[in-house]
Amino acid sequence: MALPTRVKAGVHVSRAATTETAYEPLRARDPFAIVIFGASGDLSKRKLIPALYELQAAGYLPDRYAVVGFSRTPMSDEQYREAMRRELQSRSADGTEVAADNPLVHALHYQPGNNDDRETFLQLKEKLDRLDAELELGGNRIFYLSVAPEFFPLIIRNLAAAGLIRDKSDQAWSRVIIEKPFGTDLASARELNAVVTSALDESQIYRIDHYLGKETVQNILSFRFGNSIFEPLFSRKYVDHVQITVAETLGMEGRRGAYYDHAGVMRDMVQNHMLQLLCLIAMEPPSALDAQSIRDEKVKVLRTLLPLTPKEVAAATVRGQYGVGECDGAVVKGYRQEEGVDPKSLTETYVALRVRIDNWRWAGVPFLLRSGKRLPKRVSEIAVQFKQPPLLLFRDAEGGDALAPSHASANLLVMRIQPDEGISLSFACKRPGMRIQLEEVTMDFFYGEAFRQRSPEAYERLLLDALRGDASLFTRSDEVDYAWRFITSIHEGWAQLPPPKFPNYYPFTDGPDEANRLFGDSPPAWRSLRDA
Ligand code: BG6
Repeated sequence: MALPTRVKAGVHVSRAATTETAYEPLRARDPFAIVIFGASGDLSKRKLIPALYELQAAGYLPDRYAVVGFSRTPMSDEQYREAMRRELQSRSADGTEVAADNPLVHALHYQPGNNDDRETFLQLKEKLDRLDAELELGGNRIFYLSVAPEFFPLIIRNLAAAGLIRDKSDQAWSRVIIEKPFGTDLASARELNAVVTSALDESQIYRIDHYLGKETVQNILSFRFGNSIFEPLFSRKYVDHVQITVAETLGMEGRRGAYYDHAGVMRDMVQNHMLQLLCLIAMEPPSALDAQSIRDEKVKVLRTLLPLTPKEVAAATVRGQYGVGECDGAVVKGYRQEEGVDPKSLTETYVALRVRIDNWRWAGVPFLLRSGKRLPKRVSEIAVQFKQPPLLLFRDAEGGDALAPSHASANLLVMRIQPDEGISLSFACKRPGMRIQLEEVTMDFFYGEAFRQRSPEAYERLLLDALRGDASLFTRSDEVDYAWRFITSIHEGWAQLPPPKFPNYYPFTDGPDEANRLFGDSPPAWRSLRDA
């Protein structure tokens, strides 16, 4: 299924001129205070504060708001502002000066505290009450839990005990954004859910999956349900199989090993991001574009993922772990040599799985999912391989198929989530000449060429939605539950199988060769990652 190298010459992408929609209707209107737990952490510095900065610059934030950082490091408001200002400055793509009186920097405040110390939650409450009164924030509060998952229950209990969470019927709203991972298996996810829902109504909970904030992920629904020419083909009648790939070149980056060794790619990527992609590509059209209708349809897909028996797990999954390798003459550590990783670790850094969606539309169509670290290229994509025509009309006189496309990759639709965001469609075409000979050609759409404008970062979109009270792009408790039910059955299956022989792939290769067995005895096979 390798695609030919993309040649842009001859491809013309046009776009009907439209008037840009003004931002006014999407602005967060209510004044608010957002509290970031884990304020000195990576996510906060790299994603959350920059996202708020961009939202402020683009005019999406209301006139009155406050951002309160909460973490253990002792710091004053001034010190926090200066630290964040410098972070923003260092990330400014065009070197634009981030001034100390920038409205976002000015809105920053800091509360030193411990997640397990109730006293500091009372101090936080005092600070928030003061800001409320000074800035007239109307008591609206949003708490962002950007901390290790073991702190989620503790923080929620302490917020509730300090009287920081209001009832959903209260005019002033309280919302909590929870980062992944939401649990580590079905039992722990249910336990966490019980704690969270004892203090909050489902409508106040925003479980974040940053993949849903990506433009190209949102475009899956726009593409499928905003056009009439593709959707009728999305079914067992016309689709041979679907490949969903999320490949990364990164390893443990020197700091993630301790977390990752308890997670593995199954918990880190598949339970959340990849199953969300699966839902979006397989779901039925929602009756409306609201949170309930969209999430209802996603849940229907997840419900079809029945728990697997150990035998089914052995047949439907392939695990991998990268070993030591080399890149540009330098040694690249194997996973077991990474900091924080058990030298005998059996944690998977690669997984490929074959999934069945047993419903009317998709019965019998294999969905093949793979994700891994230290693969040759960073690429996330969904490739829909349509069936070949029922009759080989284009045969030569001897009955051979030399006149057909050289390889059976035509009739392929690829949605490129990242990078090179876009969509390509490959089909067979008559090669110029005196005889009828078919060749595969590709029509390519690149976001960057068609829309010469900046796409908002995933966290910008998700933060704005949470501030506006729109939960469409956040996961609901039943989605999380069904996803864990499936993933946990795989972990339980693995526990009963002989331990895998790790390491079993070299860094920057396509993962273990064994992954091809998921296609059965005959081709097709996985798309080559280098060509993707
Ligand atoms: C995170 C995972 O959720 O997603 C990381 O914990 C992974 O391991 C990251 O690297 C990938 O996100 P993106 O947006 O870079 O594809």
